[in-house]
Amino acid sequence: MRILTGVKPTGNGMHLWNYLWMYKPFVEKAKWHEAFLFIPDFHSLTSVHDAQIMKRNKHRLAAELLALMPEDTPFIIFEQSKMDHINDITWVLSSVTPYSLMLRAHSFKDSQNKNSDINMAVFNYPILMAADIIGYDSDMVPVGKDQKQHLEFTRDIAGNFNKTYKQDFFKLPEPYINENLAIIPGIDGRKMSKSYDNFIGIFDDKKTLKKQIMAIVTDDTPLEDPKDPESCNVFALMRFFTKPERLEEIRQKYLQGGYGYGHAKLELLDILLEYFGPAREKYQTYINNYTLVEQKLDEWNCRANKIHSEKYEQLKEIVGLS
Ligand code: TRP
Repeated sequence: MRILTGVKPTGNGMHLWNYLWMYKPFVEKAKWHEAFLFIPDFHSLTSVHDAQIMKRNKHRLAAELLALMPEDTPFIIFEQSKMDHINDITWVLSSVTPYSLMLRAHSFKDSQNKNSDINMAVFNYPILMAADIIGYDSDMVPVGKDQKQHLEFTRDIAGNFNKTYKQDFFKLPEPYINENLAIIPGIDGRKMSKSYDNFIGIFDDKKTLKKQIMAIVTDDTPLEDPKDPESCNVFALMRFFTKPERLEEIRQKYLQGGYGYGHAKLELLDILLEYFGPAREKYQTYINNYTLVEQKLDEWNCRANKIHSEKYEQLKEIVGLS
């Protein structure tokens, strides 16, 4: 079984939301299956139109992904735009994808609501995403809930191709969406979500993280009074990153009183710095020596490209372009 997923370089870097929704489930699956993680930089080009920013975002994300990679879990990390035939596969898929299907895409409709005129790449975004996924015969794609429709599109696009050319050439991938994940509160107390932009980071410097955490919304129970851990956004976040014993100690402190939200926030900062400590250290090494990252990516790009290009060779035969 082959697992694949992509993280877009947005500039914010990795944050708790994409770590919990996507990265962690991906790594768990990667323990047992062949796994590919990639940076969809062509997808970022739909919204980032400054070369320096593009490069910086991408370098940052690559260093972060590498820093988070557990030593005992092998997977490859590669760059979408380094694949020789990604746009060729996208074009072939575009040629069998109905316009009426594309008009239903949430991503396109959302952008259209925000901008008076969207670019064509935003419109074609789901087809490129399908080429990412089915171009490697991926079986399973761990993603956040927001990508559910894109995965349905991928299956529709693959299915349309197979029907048009009367063969099961592309595998229909299964999304892996962790529906049971508890709500992750964001800084403003609403659920952490792409659309609210209320993330807490992982690799930002300590000062920035502290500022984000200190801004988490809490109620106004006075410091001395007992507090309800279950209704507290800070406690809800601690849950994901603390051992049960420490969590229980903190719960008792909430219930006893004399433990303020300021204390709790500093404790959350400490918990996150400990949990991500080793990764944060590695990140510094990688971001300050980017050639280390490049060396690894070069090798992995080559491996991914070989698989993707072979699929394209077969595709050319099927459509009569070989
Ligand atoms: N659209 C995804 C996002 O916005 C990124 C992405 C591109 C992706 N291609 C993919 C995710 C293929 C999974 C598989 O986050």
